[in-house]
Amino acid sequence: MNDYSRLDFEKLWRGRDKVTEVECGIILSMLEENRRNRVLELGAGNGRIGSIISDYCGEYFALDRINDFLKKCGQVKRLAAFNRICGDMMSIPAIDASFDVVIMVRVFNFLSDPGTLLRELKRVMTDDGVAIISYFHSGSLASVIDYIDHDCEKASRQAGQKIKGIRQILRSNFDEYFYSKRYFRRLVRDAGFKIIEERVCGLEDYSILNTLPSKIFVGISGIAHPFGFIPHSFVKLGKDR
Ligand SMILES: C[S@@+](CC[C@H](N)C(=O)[O-])C[C@H]1O[C@@H](n2cnc3c(N)ncnc32)[C@H](O)[C@@H]1O
Repeated sequence: MNDYSRLDFEKLWRGRDKVTEVECGIILSMLEENRRNRVLELGAGNGRIGSIISDYCGEYFALDRINDFLKKCGQVKRLAAFNRICGDMMSIPAIDASFDVVIMVRVFNFLSDPGTLLRELKRVMTDDGVAIISYFHSGSLASVIDYIDHDCEKASRQAGQKIKGIRQILRSNFDEYFYSKRYFRRLVRDAGFKIIEERVCGLEDYSILNTLPSKIFVGISGIAHPFGFIPHSFVKLGKDR
């Protein structure tokens, strides 16, 4: 299991505000205003996303396993509507159908059992609720660079499995799993979801493009999703059954 306790969010995100602006812009563009009553974010970390998105929601619940991260969710403007839950997303401490929206950003690739997570996420969503999940897929330029850069074969052997559609790499100290888009779609369908919308981003993280305004990246995110080289997909899901 990945140990996130020493993850230094400040260091990781220094100088990358544009990326957060684009990711929040995409999430907000996917959320209908009348459905933002109770929002749950899984793997919220230090509140990078929640401190912006919560301003546009009725109540915001940030869940993470590491309490020290949650304590740093300090930039939240409307603290009254911001709730911290220290817990395991594989067993969310909430009754069925508690949330209109469930958000999960930059977490999916680190899960060793995404099927269980998807079923748990679906349990806490209302019937007409939505989930917004981001993941990095295996076909992008960035993941090809990672593939060359890292010892994927060794990582696969350590995981004791090699499954078509999943590639596992070891980057820093974390296990990461990269999914093909097709495999991701199958996973969410098997868990009882339908895909409502897909957007892509990630180019804003490259210094050569970083000077462009974030609204340009948000603007093209909806039409650019067929282009496989753009690494970061945001997928809006609804319950199918
Ligand atoms: C890569 S960080 C992403 C943080 C945040 N979503 C962001 O984009 O800045 C992954 C986060 O997921 C949390 N996490 C991982 N597995 C978890 C689990 N089973 N239950 C709760 N939190 C978990 C980690 O503690 C960490 O804060």
